[in-house]
Amino acid sequence: MDWSPGCWRSLPIEQQPCYEDGEALGRVLTRVRALPPLVVPGEIDTLRGRLAQAGKGQAFLLQGGDCAERFADCTRTAIEAKLKILMQMSLVLTWGARMPVVRVARMAGQYAKPRSQSTEQVNGQALPVYRGDSINDIAPHPEARRAQPERLLEAYYRSAATLNFARALLDGGFADLHHPDHWDLGFVRCGDQRAVYNDLIERMLDAVNFVESTGAAGNESLRTVELFSSHEALLLPYEEALTVSVDGRWYNLGAHMLWIGERTRQLDGAHVAYARGIENPVGIKIGPSMTPDALLMLLEAVEPANRPGRVVLITRMGADAAASRLPPLIAAAARAGRAEAWACDPMHGNTVTTPQGVKTRRFHQILSELETTFDAHQAAGSVLAGVHFELTGDDVTECTGGPQELSDADLSRHYQTHCDPRLNYAQSLEMAFRLAHRLRQHRLSRG
Ligand code: PEP
Ligand code: CO
Repeated sequence: MDWSPGCWRSLPIEQQPCYEDGEALGRVLTRVRALPPLVVPGEIDTLRGRLAQAGKGQAFLLQGGDCAERFADCTRTAIEAKLKILMQMSLVLTWGARMPVVRVARMAGQYAKPRSQSTEQVNGQALPVYRGDSINDIAPHPEARRAQPERLLEAYYRSAATLNFARALLDGGFADLHHPDHWDLGFVRCGDQRAVYNDLIERMLDAVNFVESTGAAGNESLRTVELFSSHEALLLPYEEALTVSVDGRWYNLGAHMLWIGERTRQLDGAHVAYARGIENPVGIKIGPSMTPDALLMLLEAVEPANRPGRVVLITRMGADAAASRLPPLIAAAARAGRAEAWACDPMHGNTVTTPQGVKTRRFHQILSELETTFDAHQAAGSVLAGVHFELTGDDVTECTGGPQELSDADLSRHYQTHCDPRLNYAQSLEMAFRLAHRLRQHRLSRG
């Protein structure tokens, strides 16, 4: 294939910052290129295999994390909290679905954000927007908002530190099923949720105990779990710098999985051209404007070989649009014999602004898009291979509803995100229970 990591450079490109000093950017990228990879090709190939299984309904993808990671969140407690909620959700899902859960964190590199406007008004002054910590600073001053190349190195180092700590935690027994104390529920106060969860843990420990007593399973698989990293492949100079050739194949070794956002998936654009040549699984966000023909052309452009597990179509239609927009897309992909896995991001099509001007999402709408998406796949004989959430392990108040029944008035209490509103700890766990219930029903209905 006539492809190189820089092939996107001559093409139209969206959502890039303007670097004033091109040479300084070049020097930073040279330094990034010389640093060791964050992941290795074998892990990427493994993830592709796992996602191929998920596409066939033999595993379930759980992808989640912050909308935007901040450099300041690269701390022990923040990483532990995110890992903990991901592990607890995946445990609940495994229980419901009785199949392996593929855990992909939106973590260790989710530092660049697409924005709907390139400037914003602050006190009567037009400032460049904040584009994520790898690009500029959120402080509302012209100097802070300048795109600074050195931030790319900082992003690399913080990604490395995050991934290193996450791997060490898992290696050190953080997800060990024998230690239910690691599985405690933190600040969940809702009695129902606690009771269901504790019952699940008890039954699971009983099952672990039983399996081990038969000698059928090695302890290792119960002691730790696989975790993969992912971020949006937005800032292509950085992604290019992390892309290397290994035995004649190109890998982006900055993350296991990358995705192309709804705003950068133009068929003839730079992001699609870049995504085409790497071995990594690539997610593509699909919003309500997508048509069946455009979808098929896009799939052909990103993955002409149609390998299972290489592309995950992450639909984010909005609770109302999903029922009408999704079925024609599913049908077209099936008719064309496409092997992509489908996932649902029920967050990005359901962002609303309260009368007080706060960006939020309603738990019931998020759930509704998820249900509608399940229904659409089930009706078409297709498979919903997984889910994609913006969530945090902290007790924030950014989305309304859920087990704590948060209202608009609660949002000001602990609203922390600088980007999109995330499910908090209790809302995330509740979502996992609802999902597990649905997966369980589906499993039982198939006998
Ligand atoms: C995101 O995942 O944070 C995002 C911006 O999503 P989308 O491209 O689907 O709008
Ligand atoms: Co977002």
